Amino acid sequence: MAKRIKAMRGTHDVLPEQASRWRAIEDEFAKICRQYGYREIRTPIFEATELFERGTGFSTDVVQKEMYTFEDKKGRRVSLRPEATPSVIRAYLEHSLAKQGKVLKLFYLGPMFRYDRPGAGRYRQFHQLGIEIIGTPSAVADAEAIVLLWEFLRGIGLSGLKMRVNSLGCEKCRVEYSRLIREFLKERLERLCDDCHERFERNPLRVLDCKQEMCKAVVAEAPEIGSILCEACQEHLAEVENLVSQANVDYYIDSRLVRGLDYYTRTVFEVFHVSSGVDNSLGGGGRYDRLVEDLGGPQTPAVGFSAGMERIAQALEADGVDVKGESRLDVFIAPMGKQAFPTAFKLALDLRQALSVWLEFDDRKIDRQLRSASRLGARFAAIIGSEEISKGIVKMKDMISGEQFEVPQSEALKWLKHRLKEDSLE
Ligand code: HAM
Repeated sequence: MAKRIKAMRGTHDVLPEQASRWRAIEDEFAKICRQYGYREIRTPIFEATELFERGTGFSTDVVQKEMYTFEDKKGRRVSLRPEATPSVIRAYLEHSLAKQGKVLKLFYLGPMFRYDRPGAGRYRQFHQLGIEIIGTPSAVADAEAIVLLWEFLRGIGLSGLKMRVNSLGCEKCRVEYSRLIREFLKERLERLCDDCHERFERNPLRVLDCKQEMCKAVVAEAPEIGSILCEACQEHLAEVENLVSQANVDYYIDSRLVRGLDYYTRTVFEVFHVSSGVDNSLGGGGRYDRLVEDLGGPQTPAVGFSAGMERIAQALEADGVDVKGESRLDVFIAPMGKQAFPTAFKLALDLRQALSVWLEFDDRKIDRQLRSASRLGARFAAIIGSEEISKGIVKMKDMISGEQFEVPQSEALKWLKHRLKEDSLE
């Protein structure tokens, strides 16, 4: 036998059972986004590397260490997207979407790629659901993003959630805070990990995001950004807090929250599933008022978030919530004997106009077929043999009660719809 090939480290298959839950979650996300007035956007999975270097930020771990970057056949530097925000902004500028209105509200979902060390809730190909609001500096937009993320997660059945919120200040506050942190860390460099020595050189704020215990201990003593926020930034944060608390979001201000990407200004937030005790965020985002400019557009404030599908699915499992996907099978069509296949095929065509139908492919004994029907969870089996064909009927077997009914073939769809409706009313 030829050697088998396995999925690559850090990637995973979403098998049918799980995929139907994922689809249900994605549908819920698309539904709530539409309720909030967002429209979907789909951007390519690979982009010019420079987009992420300038967008996600040259000093971030994501760009420095985690990008899948390669040269294509023409020697262009290409990267698999590690996140979608720079891609959405690129598309916004490339297609002059600003012409569609002062504010654009977009949502997206799809795979992202980061060459990280695989671990709990950490994959190399993972999937995000996200939104971006482009074109407003308003704190109401920040609050809407936070509330949408919260309502989505609550709506699919998660509990035990906590939202952390912070402000990284405007450009001026950030420069000032960066200076403060640099001074603070300079005295404590020997207590930081090797990576953080590098981070200290590139962008000292990155040290605040380090997951190493030794660095966390140093960071715990660092000055907090709250202490140096300018008046306008303080007001902005207070407004966000005021709005968010009206929506019953269980949040707290965490003045050490910095996020791992470079583009954030003012509001940042992350949501955690406290009850599963995992300290990975389910989702996160924030305001990014410079990114559009950094990517060659006019000054355009924006805010957004992304949430991780794998982590959401794990949290649902930990909470014992089963998001029901559409995996229901209404009818299993069981032809008896080769000559019954054309009629069975025609019946499948009719029934599939409104129902989910499995048509048997092979000439198998009826009891075997019925066993398959019950394994597939079919509600009814429609049996057709030469006798049924000559009478123009189909034998419907109720797979729960075992009762059988003779139904004219022309009435089959109506009969099944009626019975399935009765089920749903019970
Ligand atoms: P992020 O915090 O890098 O933000 O990622 C958002 C979410 O993606 C995380 O909370 C997590 O659920 C998931 N995630 C990230 N890395 C992995 C991984 N290696 N394995 C599994 N899940 C992962 C962003 O990506 C920004 N684009 C969010 C944003 C949108 N900010 C403004 N607009």
